Amino acid sequence: MTGHDPIVDTAENYRRFARLEAHGRSPGYEALAVAVAGDELILAFLASLPPGKRQPNLLFAAARYLLRAPADIGSLRTLVADRRSELTAVIEARRTQTNEPARCATLLPALAQLPQPLALLEVGASAGLTLLVDRYSYDYAGHRIAGTDPRAPVLACQPRGPLPLPDRVPAIAWRAGLDLNPLDVSDADDVRWLECLLWPGEHGRAERLAQAVATARRDPPPVHRGDLLTDVPALARQAPADATLVVYHSAVLAYVAEPQRQQFADTVRELGAVWLSNEGSRVLPGIAVPRHAGAPFLLVRDGTVPTAFTDPHGTWLRWLALA
Ligand SMILES: C[S@@+](CC[C@H](N)C(=O)[O-])C[C@H]1O[C@@H](n2cnc3c(N)ncnc32)[C@H](O)[C@@H]1O
Repeated sequence: MTGHDPIVDTAENYRRFARLEAHGRSPGYEALAVAVAGDELILAFLASLPPGKRQPNLLFAAARYLLRAPADIGSLRTLVADRRSELTAVIEARRTQTNEPARCATLLPALAQLPQPLALLEVGASAGLTLLVDRYSYDYAGHRIAGTDPRAPVLACQPRGPLPLPDRVPAIAWRAGLDLNPLDVSDADDVRWLECLLWPGEHGRAERLAQAVATARRDPPPVHRGDLLTDVPALARQAPADATLVVYHSAVLAYVAEPQRQQFADTVRELGAVWLSNEGSRVLPGIAVPRHAGAPFLLVRDGTVPTAFTDPHGTWLRWLALA
């Protein structure tokens, strides 16, 4: 049982990460998270950080950034013991900003059902790689959809049951991202941070990231600095009136405090836009979550309609309405 002891809570969070997030994807990080949960030195270090800076993804990426290789428990302990201030500085300066282009494959069927052209407004857009929905190509177990950039990666996504798959990518009239800290695809250090956020053992992610970064560099999507709690309406006003405005986000609201998630939901509802939320299934407030094993993301339309279960890294998709 977790209490309000930061060491106990942090240990439980790392065990949860091992069991529900890294298991089956990254044996190295699964083992590392379990080891951290039992390591007094590292837990005490984490407890000395602000609560929003204790996550496995941030610690492991910061260690990788300094070590130039994924950490194991031995190298991580040495970092905490001998290079504590350097490690703290990276953790303080950076945040978990994993930008996984494959998540576009789990958004595409929902986007393609909307009246086109679309105006895409992504909150928590990181480097903007999940704004390039139309540039990537797709492969849903043999159902191929060509994107507009022939050099962009092909995103493979396994259908789990029938999907409403389109024949072409949607037409995009306008796109803009919003992020507390936009990452710049032309900045080598920002791209290195994105690489450090990948998990060892996940086949194809590094190549996909490199190809997506190259795609973005050919025609960078704008990602504006701002807070999803305050800055969405002003950005939404810049969208062309004759396009369908879609506000969407994936893997973002877990980083927003629970009471403020409702504030964000209220803000988006007032815009009258289409709203697609692709988050951990218990992250968006007020949703009756259908039963599902494991810890998938839930794609929710307009804050009320559970539409699909999605793989958090975009590798599979299960549509709910057709299941
Ligand atoms: C894990 S990344 C996900 C990036 C992208 N949506 C994807 O699916 O690949 C979460 C992003 O949300 C951003 N973020 C967190 N809280 C935010 C807020 N209050 N306002 C704007 N962006 C925020 C972070 O800076 C980070 O870039």
